[in-house]
Parts: sequence; C-alpha cells; structure tokens
Amino acid sequence: MRKGEKGILIAIVAIVVMFWGINSYRQAQDSAPDRGIPFYSDAPAELQAKGAELFRDLKCRDCHALWGVRNPMQSVPAPAMDGIGSLRDETWLFNYLSAQDPKQIIPSRLKAEYQMPSFAHLPEHDRKTLATFLASLKVEDWYLEEVKKSEYEKLTGETYKGGATDE
Ligand code: HEC
Repeated sequence: MRKGEKGILIAIVAIVVMFWGINSYRQAQDSAPDRGIPFYSDAPAELQAKGAELFRDLKCRDCHALWGVRNPMQSVPAPAMDGIGSLRDETWLFNYLSAQDPKQIIPSRLKAEYQMPSFAHLPEHDRKTLATFLASLKVEDWYLEEVKKSEYEKLTGETYKGGATDE
C-alpha cells in the first residue's frame, strides 16, 4: 500500500469510528430512563394496539385514564390504568374482567352507575387480550416509591423510611 492510500484509509477508519461513537452516545441517551414519564408498556406493539383498541371501543376511557388521558366529558372517580400491571397480574385482571359481579372482588362505595361494570359477556379472547394488555402497563420503581412516600407522609405525618435502595 502506498503512503497516500494509507492516509486515506486511516481517515476513513477515523470517520467511521467517530460516527459509531456519536451513534452509540445517542442511543445511550435515548435508552436512559426518562424521569419525566414513569409509565410504559412492555407488551409487543401489536398487542398494545389491540389492547388500546378494545379499551377505546369498550369505553373504558369514560371512567379510567390511560396514558394520562381519559374522556373529558365524564367524571367517574375510577383508578387510572397507568401502571396497573405493577399492581395486578394477568390472571387477576382476567378474573376481574370475567367476574359477574366485580364488587365481590373490589368492594365499591360509588354510585351504581359509576361502579366497574361486568365484562363477563365479552368473548374470552377479548378478555384475555385486555388482561394481557393491562398487565403490561408498568410503572417505574422510583415513581412507585415516590408515590408511596408522599402518600405515607400525607397519611401519617411521619417521614417515610421504607423501600428505595437506588437513591
Ligand atoms: C362506569 C365506569 C367504568 C367503566 C366503563 C369501566 N370501569 Fe373499570 N373500574 C371502575 C371503577 C369505579 C373501579 C374501582 C372499583 C369500583 O369502585 O367499582 C374500576 C376498577 C377497575 C380495575 C381494577 C383497578 C384496581 O385497583 O386494581 C380494572 C383493572 C378496571 N377497572 C378495568 C376496566 C376496563 C379494562 C374497562 C373497559 C373494558 C373498564 N374498567 C370500564 C369504573 C369503570
């Protein structure tokens, strides 16, 4: 190899290495946890799409927020579904959706029209899809700890000591 060619080769290698470096830096930035948004789904995109479609079509959003969004025309004080999969597993969710009387599982103090309706009439396939989808909706541990801490301190007036190991 002549001297000039060698220089060009080194320059090319240097450029490639530089781009590779920039790229992996960017990727590291992208995958760094976003402390602003603690909710995510760990389900494959196809399941997320099917689950979200059922959630919309069955009007779950009239009562429950998902990704912080709910039907603004309704005001039912139902729990948000964001992070529900960190609280309940798929089997529990399937059984709850399949219950003839969900109040037997979670007692309700709300007016009858606000209470969680039974979805036992849905095809089993749809109840399964919903349960798997809901079970995939997770909340980051750090956020769960923050919520626990603030609820605990609000309720007891004492400093919360439990749980967090990472900070
Ligand atoms: C009419 C309002 C309403 C609708 C519509 C509704 N829910 Fe609910 N849901 C509630 C309420 C209220 C609760 C809390 C328990 C109660 O008071 O009945 C609840 C509880 C739940 C829970 C248990 C939450 C927990 O704390 O573990 C899940 C899961 C759930 N709903 C999913 C759904 C899904 C999925 C749909 C649509 C297929 C849906 N809900 C439709 C009102 C509703």
